[in-house]
Amino acid sequence: MRRPIVAGNWKMHGSRSENARLVEDLLAHSAAAPAATCVLCPPFVYLQEVARLLRDSALSLGGQDVCADVQGAFTGEVSAAMLKDVGCEYVIVGHSERRLLYRESDQMVARKFAAAHARGLIPILCVGEQLADRDAGRTQEIVARQLEVVLELSGAGALEHGVVAYEPVWAIGTGRNAAPEQAQDVHAFIRARIAARDARIAAATRIVYGGSVKAGNAAELFAMPDVDGGLIGGASLKADEFLTILAAAGPGK
Ligand code: PGA
Repeated sequence: MRRPIVAGNWKMHGSRSENARLVEDLLAHSAAAPAATCVLCPPFVYLQEVARLLRDSALSLGGQDVCADVQGAFTGEVSAAMLKDVGCEYVIVGHSERRLLYRESDQMVARKFAAAHARGLIPILCVGEQLADRDAGRTQEIVARQLEVVLELSGAGALEHGVVAYEPVWAIGTGRNAAPEQAQDVHAFIRARIAARDARIAAATRIVYGGSVKAGNAAELFAMPDVDGGLIGGASLKADEFLTILAAAGPGK
């Protein structure tokens, strides 16, 4: 049985006071033991403070990115060990905004995944096609390429507890979510690619959907057989929306 996971990607939003209010609302109204794993991913500078706010709760902490290197002269970067040190269990790697705005290559993303995994963080690996790719019928080709580079470098075993997030770029922050059947098609494809290397790992890997998930569409997306929760951007900044999405993710498949 795969326990679903819902991760909130705050992106570059928040402040100390806004974060405190949001976490307080989440803790006050979330079930004591939510059926799904819940992860909050604030900006780096707030990780330690949010870790303190989450102490003794059922909610977990994640970074939004990680350096591919272990330590040294990498100005501005944050290592996997540092993320662990301040209480992260998870880290997002290869978000489309990193890939597109900061030119992260598939190889760089694979190195980040490996660095996170080596330090005992659970990587949330983002993959997804742009609109032109989908229109050209290249969705599977793009997603396979992004996934295979990681599987080549780290092996399918690295996904044992890992998470893959399918995030079609055209659905991120646009209000236009993939139809549940569109998401299911790609999720099944991703699981099959992993299964081609290791069927047991493929059956255990959580594959979550991201891209304009809201309180109003989460249940139908999460009901799909290969959708194991979501990576939530905009809606993770509103406690009531996020809690409704979290509740829609239980109890697992
Ligand atoms: P969105 O973002 O929910 O605001 O579309 C999702 C993401 O980028 O992870």
